[in-house]
Amino acid sequence: FFVKLCFFFDPHTVNTKGLEVQKKEFDKLKEQHQAHAEELLRVQTRANVTEKQVEALRREGEVKKVAFSASLLASGNQGETGPFNTRTPLVFRHVVSNIGNAYNPNTGFFTAPVKGAYHFEFYIFGHGHASYPAAAGLTRNGEHIFIAYEHQPSHGANSANGVTLLLEVGDVIFLRQWQNSRIYDNIYCHTTFSGHLLFTM
Ligand SMILES: *[C@@H]1O[C@H](CO)[C@@H](O)[C@H](O)[C@H]1NC(C)=O
Repeated sequence: FFVKLCFFFDPHTVNTKGLEVQKKEFDKLKEQHQAHAEELLRVQTRANVTEKQVEALRREGEVKKVAFSASLLASGNQGETGPFNTRTPLVFRHVVSNIGNAYNPNTGFFTAPVKGAYHFEFYIFGHGHASYPAAAGLTRNGEHIFIAYEHQPSHGANSANGVTLLLEVGDVIFLRQWQNSRIYDNIYCHTTFSGHLLFTM
């Protein structure tokens, strides 16, 4: 009986068996933990990708809103601009809308923030004069596109033009006053420049 008891309670045997069980359970837990860690990484990676896509869509949506209108002279001013003996950039200072801030009222430059089709229109008012027409040309990156031109000896007239252009990101649109021409504006805003994005491409 004593021997049997001794064998049954052999501390060495009990410890070894216990450790084996514990190790198996530990290995199982380790495996489970590893699987969880891998799954977490996959979920995090997917979440990061989704986050980036949402951000890209948000930016794309924002950049689709581009529109501005400005008249030539700062609020309260009136008078003639020109004549100058060379073509001179016109800076439309009185901004009435500038959604997307693509138009710069300090330089007169509109810079395309996104590739797309844009529409522009411009109205150029002049008082009649024997020598001076009223005229301005729209340019893309300095290259002439369309002109608004009128020349009459008296009274006044407003000529206009408009154009739709496919612009690349960073293309610059501005108006150049024609050489030896005079352009008039006052608080009623006869001489204006407007543009807007029709759709992205
Ligand atoms: C997810 O993005 C966060 C923050 O940018 C970064 O710290 C983390 O490492 C990224 N995780 C994965 C799995 O790409």
